[in-house]
Amino acid sequence: MSEETPTPPRLDTDRLLDDPRTRIIVCCGSGGVGKTTTAAALGLRAAERGRHVVVLTVDPARRLAQSMGLSGLDNTPRPVPLPDARGDGTLHAMMLDMKRTFDEIVEAHADPDRAEQILVNPFYQSLSSSFAGTQEYMAMEKLGQLRRTDQWDLIVVDTPPSRSALDFLDAPQRLSRFLDGRLIKLLTAPTRASGRAYLKVVNAGFGMFTGIVTKIIGAQVLRDVQTFVAAFDTMFGGFRERAEDTYRLLQTPGTAFLVVATPEPDALREASYFVERLSEDRMPLAGLILNRVHRSPAARLSAARSTAAAEALLPAGASGDNAQSGANGGPPLAEVTRYPLAVAALRLHAERMQLIAAERRLSQRFTAAHPAVPVARVIAQPEDVHDLAGLRVIGESLSDN
Ligand SMILES: Nc1ncnc2c1ncn2[C@@H]1O[C@H](COP(=O)(O)OP(=O)(O)O)[C@@H](O)[C@H]1O
Ligand SMILES: [Mg+2]
Repeated sequence: MSEETPTPPRLDTDRLLDDPRTRIIVCCGSGGVGKTTTAAALGLRAAERGRHVVVLTVDPARRLAQSMGLSGLDNTPRPVPLPDARGDGTLHAMMLDMKRTFDEIVEAHADPDRAEQILVNPFYQSLSSSFAGTQEYMAMEKLGQLRRTDQWDLIVVDTPPSRSALDFLDAPQRLSRFLDGRLIKLLTAPTRASGRAYLKVVNAGFGMFTGIVTKIIGAQVLRDVQTFVAAFDTMFGGFRERAEDTYRLLQTPGTAFLVVATPEPDALREASYFVERLSEDRMPLAGLILNRVHRSPAARLSAARSTAAAEALLPAGASGDNAQSGANGGPPLAEVTRYPLAVAALRLHAERMQLIAAERRLSQRFTAAHPAVPVARVIAQPEDVHDLAGLRVIGESLSDN
């Protein structure tokens, strides 16, 4: 790394939230970094600053959901009571029900008989509830729907708990690739191709292939897949078109992507990939939210001095590993020093300062690679965030950068 420490541009989240041109905010990132928390906190803050907001959450922890008035998956935005709201802002929140969203698409786009046929199909049922990428796809689908109602002036989107942040952008293609894929084509050839075309396929050894597949996956499953795809074919075009529409909507300047990461190697590496991918896909990136950043109220006392002070309180020869408290096998601190609490506190402080330094190095490395990406930090709270008051604290921390 270079001698200079790179300083990122500041991400002004309040300006983003207040700008009426901001219509969609998407919070992306790898698992567990704080996407859901950030999305909810931004939604609350925007509403309290006067906007009409809906937050589309995907997997809120139960207590957080309850605090926003959500009792279960129901796929409908519910008003969140804001006791001390200023201005005339409003907040709605909903939890995405992936299967229900899928069912609604089928109901809306296939005639009733056909819809019924699809909905009861076991293959459809497993696809709609467990296919990798379905949740991401449905989050996009729901976003498109919410946007079309034009009922809110800001939609904040939380993204599914995927291993990779990229899954969100990959999902529409993945789903259509799957439905369009070779395996599906092979399996469904007999119902798709008719007359001569089918005969040709059969002559090319296809009968034998189907025979083998039938043996492996079972005749019933094969029939399920075949009927499903045949019925689905009619609305498949619509699926792809809407996915492409939503994709284009995401590329417009009214959308702001926020990449959320914790100051840890894996999360920041993933954030880097995602930033690069957004730029390849020409998606508008607003910045990086570095969540759960540590601070110390006594930052002027360095790790080294703190450790030295702890050593000084120990008798000669009892320093280092020998004087770890009982847990590590050494004698308890209280037996080797008259100041066990002071030693423990100094050591904790030294650890905290080392953590802060490590976090700073990681974030500088990110900024060295992406110098133009604005960054906002959120302080690690001592407890999980599970109510409106907690969300408000996160929003304040975000704006206080
Ligand atoms: N700044 C923070 N300080 C303390 N806890 C946090 C913070 N941000 C998130 N959390 C907690 O971390 C956990 C994971 O956050 P969550 O938003 O569900 O992550 P994700 O949606 O990315 O999987 C939750 O228990 C949440 O309360
Ligand atoms: Mg989440």
